[in-house]
Amino acid sequence: MTRHLLTGEELGHDELVALLDRADALKAAPLSSRALEGASVALIFEKHSTRTRLSFEAGIFELGGQPVVLRRDELHLSRGESVGDTARVLSRHMAAIGLRTGADALIEELAEFATVPVFNMLTAGHHPCQALADLMTLRERFGRLEGLKLAYVGDGNNVARSLALLGAIAGVEVAIASPPQYTLCDARGATLTTDPGEAVAGAHAVYADVWVSMGDEDTADERRAALAPYRIDDALLDRAAPDAIALHCLPAHPGEEITAEVLYGPRQRIWDQAENRRHAQKALLELLVR
Ligand code: CP
Ligand code: NVA
Repeated sequence: MTRHLLTGEELGHDELVALLDRADALKAAPLSSRALEGASVALIFEKHSTRTRLSFEAGIFELGGQPVVLRRDELHLSRGESVGDTARVLSRHMAAIGLRTGADALIEELAEFATVPVFNMLTAGHHPCQALADLMTLRERFGRLEGLKLAYVGDGNNVARSLALLGAIAGVEVAIASPPQYTLCDARGATLTTDPGEAVAGAHAVYADVWVSMGDEDTADERRAALAPYRIDDALLDRAAPDAIALHCLPAHPGEEITAEVLYGPRQRIWDQAENRRHAQKALLELLVR
């Protein structure tokens, strides 16, 4: 059975813990694994990326492999070749295929026809690789995951959904505060509220994402207006647990979803979180190509 990572729900609890253990080991010794020796991994981007591309490219190289970055407009996929045929051909050359796209249906179709692992580098619905790094960062700070509480404050989007799903597998309580019109639909694994103060009460981590995700630009003004009360600032952090950390998947818009004081301040673990993308994804690739 070819293993894929489309939502993160493919992972069991023990497997997720083992993956995070491997991520810690690979962070301590980045060149200790040759899991991709002689292998190529396709990274297909249909949307912008800074962190995902950098961390996967560098991580695949560190594992002894070669990343092959492709934009959709470079592939015949953009001029009518089917997803199935694209998957068949990619599978003859690549050890695994990463995709960043809009529609979850597209990555599901790619996985249906691929005979090598397909992993989700962000869709409209999910961002599981981000959540892996987030859990790693949380565990790094607190030494455990079971019993921790994470509060996500903002748009009920792909990042919120992946935190809910993977947090539940890891034993993390996830609370999500969003305006009613941008609440997370299908919020398995999380409790929902419209009140940021309620979400952050007792939280060990307070998490922000952009107010305007890629693909939501046409509703940017409405989103900025509705999400204004959902900014992470020092006052909101003060309402969380005394040792709470601030997290953000990035890119940040200081003054919108997070203040500059928090983004660059003493309680953030945001830049470690961005680095941990590489370590967590290397552990994921080891698992998928095994
Ligand atoms: N957090 C994240 O996925 O960043 P990029 O969009 O820069 O890859
Ligand atoms: N929710 C954001 C995440 C960016 C990493 C988006 O989809 O654009």
